[in-house]
Amino acid sequence: MSTTIKELGFVFREPSTRSRSLVARDHETLSPSYTRSYGFVMSHGKGSTVWDVDGNQYLDFAAGIAVLATGHAHPRVVEAVTQQIQKYGHIGATDFFCPQQIALAERLQQITPIHNAANPSDKLVYFGNSGTEAIEAALKLARYQGRQYVIGFYGSFHGRSMGSLSVTASKYVQRAHYTHIPGGVEHVPYPGKHFTERAKQDSYDWGDAVQYIEDVVLKRKLPAYEVAAVLVEPIQGEGGYLTPRDDFFPKLRAMCDRHGILLIVDEIQSGIGRTGKWWGVEHYGVEPDIVCTAKGLGGGLPIGGIIAHRDVMGKWVPGAHASTFGGNPVACAAALATLDVIEEEGLLDHAASLGAYALERLSAFKSAHPSIQRVDGRGLMLGIEFTGPNSEPLAKFRDEIVDLCFANGLITLAAGTSTLRIAPPLVIRRDEFELGLDIIERAISEIEEAHWDSLAQQGQA
Ligand SMILES: Cc1ncc(COP(=O)(O)O)c(C=O)c1O
Repeated sequence: MSTTIKELGFVFREPSTRSRSLVARDHETLSPSYTRSYGFVMSHGKGSTVWDVDGNQYLDFAAGIAVLATGHAHPRVVEAVTQQIQKYGHIGATDFFCPQQIALAERLQQITPIHNAANPSDKLVYFGNSGTEAIEAALKLARYQGRQYVIGFYGSFHGRSMGSLSVTASKYVQRAHYTHIPGGVEHVPYPGKHFTERAKQDSYDWGDAVQYIEDVVLKRKLPAYEVAAVLVEPIQGEGGYLTPRDDFFPKLRAMCDRHGILLIVDEIQSGIGRTGKWWGVEHYGVEPDIVCTAKGLGGGLPIGGIIAHRDVMGKWVPGAHASTFGGNPVACAAALATLDVIEEEGLLDHAASLGAYALERLSAFKSAHPSIQRVDGRGLMLGIEFTGPNSEPLAKFRDEIVDLCFANGLITLAAGTSTLRIAPPLVIRRDEFELGLDIIERAISEIEEAHWDSLAQQGQA
């Protein structure tokens, strides 16, 4: 194991002089609302490798929170950005026309499945700058049709601006002290495929979520004819990398059709190839009414947007929604290059096959490791959840594993209460991916050996 120190509340990998100095300056200048967990200070990156400002090298299993589909500094993305910024960096597509935006919208029309849209030209695209803006746009578009209620899911994360926060129900700290979160949102339990027995006992698992919406929500609280939309993640991301039960999406689609409710999928984390298909929802054979995208789309540049049926988005009149920077030409150029790279380098199949390999390998590893409750996900959106002898979530235990991975040269992130997330760039090579999994497995073994006996004793006490 390499040397580390703990200072300013964070683990640092040695050498760390520059990193510590920058973290100290960060504390003096930046909002404390960010959720950093260890002292990684970025210097530069290439593909799936990153370096900190002290020259330490790491393998990146976080990809800037599941953003960098094409990895760090992909030459095609760098070239596209450089060429575009030399021509013009901004025009304001709210008032003028922008060829890069049109080209990107045409690509999204091609690759995005939308309910009842037989042809690409049946779909329309709106661009913002981020995930939360995509959700805002989707919520506004759905409500613009007339109905006002929205159904969301516990555990879901859709962003932190007021509209998206109203549907987010991931951690209460994200909502605390914000009295004026818009209303009209009803949350229901997300039907995780691999819920623990304890979660079931604690009633986090209500069995058939769609039946619950029909039997409880729509019968006792919200008139179905006033519900505008259901907003759902194909795999819950910040909620802990949870895949839903196999029958959930088909049943949800059927319910939405029965009641004329729009199905909005939040593909901000699961989209752009992360799960081995362009969109996570494609795994369920279901077509949504509105798709929200961001994160992976821009190859590291900020861009987000929604895709919807022309019959739905076409109702917006000029001025109904817009954004100065949304669909910025440089971000659009980066996005077009990103989509090209994903296609030309076969990254959808690559992500799918690495994911299948990891699920098999980690499931075998799980059988000898009692702290692993769940190995979950698809493609390169994978989670390992840790629970104690009585199925209690092991958040600190998970954090120690994240810290130890960092000490051993692997960047990972937490998700949910006690899940470790695996979300490397889609360009990661098989040997790099295997090396990262080696580091994770070693860290789990080490932390389990250090803590499991005492956890088991406490459990019996
Ligand atoms: C599923 C999902 N939706 C929305 C968001 C919000 O995106 P942003 O942080 O770009 O606003 C995130 C961010 O983590 C996300 O994972």
